[in-house]
Amino acid sequence: MAKILDKQELAPNIQRFVLDAPQIAAKAQPGHFLIVRHSEQGERIPLTVADFNREAGTITIVCQGVGKSTKEINRLQPGDDFLDVLGPLGTVYPIKKLGTVVCVAGGLGVAPLYPKAKALAAAGNRIITIIGAQRKELLIMTEEMEAISARVLYATDDGSVGYKGFVTGPLREILATEKVDEVLAIGPVPMMAASVQVAKEFKTPIMVSLNALMIDGTGMCGGCRVTVGGETKFCCVDGPAFNGHQVDFEGLLKRQRFYRSMEEEAEHRCRLEGGE
Ligand code: FES
Repeated sequence: MAKILDKQELAPNIQRFVLDAPQIAAKAQPGHFLIVRHSEQGERIPLTVADFNREAGTITIVCQGVGKSTKEINRLQPGDDFLDVLGPLGTVYPIKKLGTVVCVAGGLGVAPLYPKAKALAAAGNRIITIIGAQRKELLIMTEEMEAISARVLYATDDGSVGYKGFVTGPLREILATEKVDEVLAIGPVPMMAASVQVAKEFKTPIMVSLNALMIDGTGMCGGCRVTVGGETKFCCVDGPAFNGHQVDFEGLLKRQRFYRSMEEEAEHRCRLEGGE
């Protein structure tokens, strides 16, 4: 059980929760994620550790209400409890002093990006951040990213702030004009695949953090499998961060499309049966 200490709306439908979880906070590292269940009937939802504070014994998670359980989670209030919080899960993100690192986030990808970027900055790297979203009000955690970055660029689909278009536009401009030692891209799979293509043009190393479907989070169910460097890997125990140049994005997108159609069918049935 973990009590909600604080809750803040970051954008329409996106909430940030600070949870009292001293045992998890004591072990949390950049790269880790959790599997949470808010009630007996709730689904198990994988959520990244968006921040942690060992002294206060707290962890921060960010949840976007997209399905029944995540919408229910977003209705919880300070003082309410999460029934289960399992973690920290996943591998620790490798933090090294590389030089200049371009951190690229798409949508909710800022939440998993932030702890890694913060640790990379603390290790002495110069951070250039690119944050993309559909429109201005969906840009989240901009103050936190600005505090640890030498430069922050924005990209919105409608041009309401920054570059009009995808994050790959400013990414290509930066890679064309300055020496970059590594790119870290986190967001929707097509955005990460497109960022890898740009990094390939400039022969720049790139890391990605994959948001594959997860069920047990312990390497047992196979739900999160992905092909990396020709080998089958499990995002939950081998990742979720991988060398972007080695990821089979086409296979990952195919699996996502398959699960999405199953989800839509389940949602449709749920509505027909009187659910939300
Ligand atoms: S979530 Fe089941 S194997 Fe990774």
